Amino acid sequence: MLKKKAFIAFLTLIAVIFVQAAASAEMPKKLGKSCLEGDCHGDYKKKGNVHGPVELGHCTACHEVVNEEDHFFGLIREGSELCEKCHSGHVSGKYVHAPVENGECLECHDPHTSGNKFLLPEKTVAKLCENCHQITEGLSHLHGPVAVGECSVCHDTHSSDHAKLLVVEPKELCVSCHVVTKDELDKFEFVHEPAKGDCVGCHNPHGADNPSMLKAEAPELCYECHQDIKDKVDSSIIQHSVVSQKGGCLECHSPHASTIKYILKSDPSTICQSCHDKPMGVSRDDILPSFTAEIKDKKFLHGPVKDKNCNGCHTAHGSEHFRLLNKEYPPLFYAPYAEENYELCFSCHSKDIALTEKTAKLTDFRNGSQNLHFLHVNKSRRGRTCRACHETHASNLPKHIRATVPYGRWELPINFEKTETGGTCTPGCHKATDYDRVSPANYFVPEPELAKENKAK
Ligand code: HEC
Ligand code: HEC
Ligand code: HEC
Ligand code: HEC
Ligand code: HEC
Ligand code: HEC
Ligand code: HEC
Ligand code: HEC
Ligand code: HEC
Ligand code: HEC
Ligand code: HEC
Ligand code: HEC
Ligand code: HEC
Repeated sequence: MLKKKAFIAFLTLIAVIFVQAAASAEMPKKLGKSCLEGDCHGDYKKKGNVHGPVELGHCTACHEVVNEEDHFFGLIREGSELCEKCHSGHVSGKYVHAPVENGECLECHDPHTSGNKFLLPEKTVAKLCENCHQITEGLSHLHGPVAVGECSVCHDTHSSDHAKLLVVEPKELCVSCHVVTKDELDKFEFVHEPAKGDCVGCHNPHGADNPSMLKAEAPELCYECHQDIKDKVDSSIIQHSVVSQKGGCLECHSPHASTIKYILKSDPSTICQSCHDKPMGVSRDDILPSFTAEIKDKKFLHGPVKDKNCNGCHTAHGSEHFRLLNKEYPPLFYAPYAEENYELCFSCHSKDIALTEKTAKLTDFRNGSQNLHFLHVNKSRRGRTCRACHETHASNLPKHIRATVPYGRWELPINFEKTETGGTCTPGCHKATDYDRVSPANYFVPEPELAKENKAK
């Protein structure tokens, strides 16, 4: 191998000496067309693209004779001034590319001839740029135009009025090709603040190691600007694993724009049901029922559920309260009464229903003026929580009364029937009991432990 190389070098040397000898014999004394004849500089015309003045044999447009005898020619001007004699306007923009500024036209152009267009020394523009900028090195995903070497669809090579030599305002650049994204940004009511700008807060314009050329994947990408959400997620007692999983934020949010508030991908109810349409496990012993099954074919949907406003009660990112509730609500059948235990319900309903023993108007759940909400709920020890009687999401009975309520391993029946002026329950708690707002039932005998308990209090 080595021997072969040495042999080739030897042959080349002989050839050069021979050519020089031949040249000095017939060397033209004047600069001009004749230079292009013969073997010396004839190859200038053989390449695909010949520079205008060279084609015409106007060597003197750039060269001058220093010493004719020695065939020694110099350049009439230095650096870019040589070219600017005929080409102007390459530095017209506010931002000038450093090699252009420094007059290094020859870093990127051959003054005589080239096999490539624009007298470039490399086959593609990208290859040329890569001599000085290794912007794609090691990236696994390349942007379409970068992958095919088209740096100049986005960058002016000489100068530009826009930072980073961009061909248009950074804000307009990306959407000049991504018209679908542009359409969304123009038409949708809720636009993500950074998507109103130059897009490069999240995307690397050249490529990245992440899909969609993202600088990082969600949630890390999002946390760069939303530290508050990260703090909330990390500090939550009840966590929603979907939020912190890879890509998690995008299960619910669109990165650019949406017709729904908080740039949600869809209304909350639909989003939540994309996962909660089947039972799923929080842990081995804690299996969540299917939300979709819970509300399916139900006659009555709770107000905010009907409005698809899951946020009225849940906070999707994480919470201090069980089941990701945004306020306190007792998790069990019984709880000692305290107003703050029912913060959730009382954020929309009047807390007075549980505060006054006698009322003629605060609630319909009364016997005459005896407030049965107060009676059941407002107890220092085993107060019945709202869940003892009400469904939270949906029900088939009026006033969201439950058919049954989980009581340990038993589904305790309630058997509620509503009447014009009251109702009847035959629950697993006590014998059939009526209440009537107009003609109160007489509870004196033998009902209820409840009344006793209340007296004892
Ligand atoms: C547009 C300006 C321009 C014209 C016209 C021009 N040259 Fe040059 N030439 C240059 C520059 C600039 C260099 C120096 C190149 C470098 O430093 O790399 C050069 C260098 C040369 C060299 C040195 C070897 C080389 O190729 O680098 C030769 C030989 C030469 N020119 C021949 C010619 C001949 C013959 C003509 C006319 C047919 C001609 N040039 C026309 C700009 C020009
Ligand atoms: C004497 C005038 C003259 C000088 C000096 C000159 N050019 Fe040119 N250049 C021309 C002409 C004429 C053309 C052909 C114009 C056309 O095709 O539109 C041209 C074309 C070009 C092109 C485009 C080639 C293509 O394929 O489209 C490039 C690039 C270029 N010149 C670079 C240079 C550089 C670099 C220098 C300085 C080293 C220089 N020119 C100096 C006259 C000149
Ligand atoms: C960093 C590389 C680079 C440098 C430095 C550079 N050019 Fe260019 N030039 C290009 C590329 C690439 C093109 C092809 C067109 C394009 O992509 O913008 C080009 C095109 C041209 C053209 C033809 C098209 C046009 O825009 O008119 C001329 C003439 C030209 N350059 C002259 C110059 C002159 C004069 C200088 C020095 C002042 C220079 N260039 C410096 C890369 C360069
Ligand atoms: C001869 C070396 C060289 C070549 C070839 C070259 N560049 Fe540059 N480029 C530089 C230098 C030097 C800087 C300034 C250094 C810096 O700011 O990092 C620069 C800066 C830039 C910048 C940043 C400008 C800014 O305002 O921050 C862009 C964009 C750029 N070049 C694009 C290109 C493209 C596109 C090509 C190919 C057409 C190219 N460069 C070819 C040397 C080169
Ligand atoms: C789709 C448009 C697009 C294409 C194609 C593109 N760039 Fe860029 N480039 C940009 C944008 C936008 C920036 C500014 C990034 C920023 O501000 O963070 C940039 C910045 C740069 C910079 C400045 C340094 C940096 O990373 O911020 C260089 C150098 C550069 N590009 C070179 C190139 C080269 C070389 C090519 C071709 C291989 C190329 N670009 C292709 C859009 C593009
Ligand atoms: C010259 C046209 C053009 C410009 C300008 C342009 N892109 Fe692209 N972009 C493409 C093409 C072509 C594709 C590949 C086809 C596709 O995936 O849809 C692409 C793909 C993408 C993708 C999807 C990549 C993937 O892996 O799915 C993203 C994200 C993207 N571009 C963002 C940007 C951003 C941000 C900018 C501005 C810095 C930008 N584009 C500017 C043409 C362009
Ligand atoms: C807040 C970060 C962020 C900003 C700012 C941003 N994007 Fe994206 N973009 C993303 C994410 C995340 C994805 C991936 C979406 C997915 O996988 O569901 C994406 C995907 C894309 C895609 C691939 C197709 C699609 O819609 O899923 C294109 C094209 C795109 N973005 C263009 C743009 C353009 C153009 C801008 C500027 C107007 C922009 N992006 C601004 C985060 C952003
Ligand atoms: C470059 C910074 C930046 C990145 C990265 C970013 N955001 Fe934002 N985001 C903002 C700004 C600024 C606002 C508007 C001010 C605010 O509400 O904090 C905002 C607002 C939001 C809003 C509220 C929108 C509304 O209508 O109220 C949501 C939701 C959001 N971002 C989600 C995301 C998600 C998901 C990601 C990751 C895919 C993300 N953001 C990445 C800067 C960013
Ligand atoms: C399970 C769905 C879901 C996921 C996953 C999710 N969000 Fe949200 N996000 C929502 C909903 C619903 C809202 C509406 C207001 C609320 O409930 O607090 C919201 C509101 C927001 C807001 C605006 C209001 C505020 O609290 O500042 C930001 C910012 C936000 N989300 C960012 C993120 C980020 C970042 C991620 C990923 C770490 C993420 N979200 C993951 C559903 C989700
Ligand atoms: C991408 C799937 C997905 C989406 C979308 C989703 N969840 Fe979940 N959710 C889960 C998984 C998995 C669990 C099981 C516990 C865990 O892993 O955090 C869960 C658990 C829950 C829990 C019980 C938490 C506990 O520990 O007790 C509630 C409540 C909940 N989700 C409500 C919602 C609401 C409201 C929405 C819509 C804003 C929603 N989820 C959207 C996957 C999802
Ligand atoms: C009025 C308050 C409220 C609203 C509005 C609400 N939820 Fe709930 N959600 C709860 C309560 C309370 C629980 C705990 C249920 C229990 O343990 O009885 C719960 C539990 C859940 C669970 C855990 C599984 C289950 O059913 O026990 C999921 C999933 C859930 N909700 C999804 C949703 C979705 C989706 C929406 C919006 C369509 C929504 N919730 C609206 C209060 C509400
Ligand atoms: C985000 C607000 C909101 C929260 C929180 C909320 N509700 Fe409601 N609730 C409503 C709306 C709205 C209605 C429908 C009112 C109407 O149709 O007159 C309603 C209706 C009801 C009804 C039926 C009333 C009727 O007259 O038909 C009951 C019972 C009820 N809620 C119980 C509860 C309980 C128990 C809680 C706590 C677990 C709760 N609500 C939490 C908004 C809320
Ligand atoms: C022992 C069963 C029971 C408990 C516990 C209970 N409720 Fe009720 N609630 C009812 C009945 C029955 C009605 C229907 C009254 C009627 O219309 O005849 C009702 C009606 C309501 C109404 C409709 C307006 C009204 O007062 O008539 C709301 C709102 C309500 N309850 C909220 C709550 C809240 C909040 C809790 C927990 C703090 C709770 N309930 C606890 C049985 C109960």
